[in-house]
Amino acid sequence: MKHDVVIVSGAAGGIGRAVAERLARKQTCQLVLCDVDSQGLAGVLESLPGAGHQSFVVDVGCEDSVRGLFDRLESQGLQASALANCFGISPVGENGDRIGLEQTSVDLWNRVFQVNSTGVFLMCQAFLSQRAIRDNNLPARIVNVSSAAAQLGGYRSCPAYIASKAAVIALTKSIARDYAEYGVLANSVCPGLIDTQMFRQGCPSDNVASRVPVGRLGEAEDVAGAIEFLLSPAASYITGASIDVNGGYRMA
Ligand SMILES: NC(=O)c1ccc[n+]([C@@H]2O[C@H](COP(=O)([O-])OP(=O)(O)OC[C@H]3O[C@@H](n4cnc5c(N)ncnc54)[C@H](O)[C@@H]3O)[C@@H](O)[C@H]2O)c1
Repeated sequence: MKHDVVIVSGAAGGIGRAVAERLARKQTCQLVLCDVDSQGLAGVLESLPGAGHQSFVVDVGCEDSVRGLFDRLESQGLQASALANCFGISPVGENGDRIGLEQTSVDLWNRVFQVNSTGVFLMCQAFLSQRAIRDNNLPARIVNVSSAAAQLGGYRSCPAYIASKAAVIALTKSIARDYAEYGVLANSVCPGLIDTQMFRQGCPSDNVASRVPVGRLGEAEDVAGAIEFLLSPAASYITGASIDVNGGYRMA
């Protein structure tokens, strides 16, 4: 399927930016980029090839903010047929130390869930509530970025992050089941060790790349490739899946 309007959230980040650049380079769609980082977002928008792309500062954990995005799209007569949720937070302690369960305050737990899980819920809910999808005349795709940490218990990320990312996989499956009859396919991707800002902030001193069977860290572009595939006609019979993008770091 060809998408006219694609929303990429977390577009100022490593993986979101790579998705936006890849789609802008290879496709003819109009991109709607969003992130809380207004400066980063403006930089990404400016760098993209092609015309008609837009960016919006959105806090995905805030219902009003997410609603505001879709209201503005609707007021422009735009209905998105694809959504790639690439935002996330992964708090670390001082010096990049891991925050263990006993050091996890309820505030931290809630903050991580508010963005990583509730953010995915709010973005998917608003996306699926668009008139064109509700009326069943716009086949659509959702890709949510989870994490290998949710599958293997994580080594480096904090328990709140791991649990919040497991919720993303489960919510995606629930959407896949409920909305298949409306022509909506929903999948998650589970990146392993990807060399972005998020990875670097908690990077341990040892050589983690040597623990990845393919012998290197992943690049944001590696994840963007999988997301582009899941949005493409080639993935028309895939839904409810969690696609590993981890260089063999974790094998099912
Ligand atoms: N880098 C890795 O090793 C790795 C591994 C597994 C999963 N992931 C997941 O990949 C996704 C992208 O991460 P990344 O590596 O590109 O990290 P990143 O930190 O470079 O990008 C994350 C982006 O999310 C945005 N964001 C944070 N809170 C937001 C909010 N409330 N509203 C809107 N945007 C918000 C940030 O501003 C940032 O631009 C995340 O879901 C992350 O959990 C990353």
